[in-house]
Amino acid sequence: MSALLQQALSLYSALPAAERFHVHARAFSAPLLAVASRVPGGRVVDIGCGHGLLSALLAVADPRRTVHGVDPDPRKVEWARRALAGLPNVTLTEGTVEETLASDSADVEPFDGAVVCDVLYLLPEDRWPGFLRTVQGLLRPGGRLLLKEVQGDDSWKHRKALAQEWVMVSLLGRTKASGGLALKPRGEMTRLLKDAGFAVREVVDLGKGYTTPHVLYVAEALLP
Ligand SMILES: C[S@@+](CC[C@H](N)C(=O)[O-])C[C@H]1O[C@@H](n2cnc3c(N)ncnc32)[C@H](O)[C@@H]1O
Repeated sequence: MSALLQQALSLYSALPAAERFHVHARAFSAPLLAVASRVPGGRVVDIGCGHGLLSALLAVADPRRTVHGVDPDPRKVEWARRALAGLPNVTLTEGTVEETLASDSADVEPFDGAVVCDVLYLLPEDRWPGFLRTVQGLLRPGGRLLLKEVQGDDSWKHRKALAQEWVMVSLLGRTKASGGLALKPRGEMTRLLKDAGFAVREVVDLGKGYTTPHVLYVAEALLP
């Protein structure tokens, strides 16, 4: 395991076993280090930060970076606050990105980077364009979006990922969905990003070594 991941995971050592297990399972089932390595320095927002493991990786990797995590699940924000309390460059807010950031976006200095990691597919599809436009509005022109999704390719990995998410959302109630559960092919995601005012710079296949078809869209906010 990388020293960075080890350091980030150690922040959770005082949490109850069920939460520690969740965070460790997340660390081994999703390519968070690969996502984190492409996030720029400066001011970064981690949208749908959950327990905050990605926020922790970003903050520990670059102490000059400031990380703002936001998530609508109060339980997760509470665990994230407890675990990341010792990191001075992290702030955590409860709420959806639309509520907590868009409503007072006029007061918010634009971000250099935004991470949306395994969040979009939890929203109903009709909210995706508005969600992406909100994120675009939070970034400075040229600011980078890292959108990590699970690729909709009709493979067995796709079907396994949907079943797994259904268990997490509906059966165990460990993930708060906002009414959706859809995995889309790359072409459709790329089109959505372009329509929301992004230039898609790279689409990275991160599924190798995982039983989930992870895919990362690296995009740049264009001038509004
Ligand atoms: C699968 S978890 C991913 C957590 C974290 N991004 C990570 O990669 O470890 C999805 C997260 O999205 C959050 N979420 C659900 N609906 C959301 C919304 N409308 N805006 C922001 N986050 C949302 C959930 O509460 C949950 O913590």
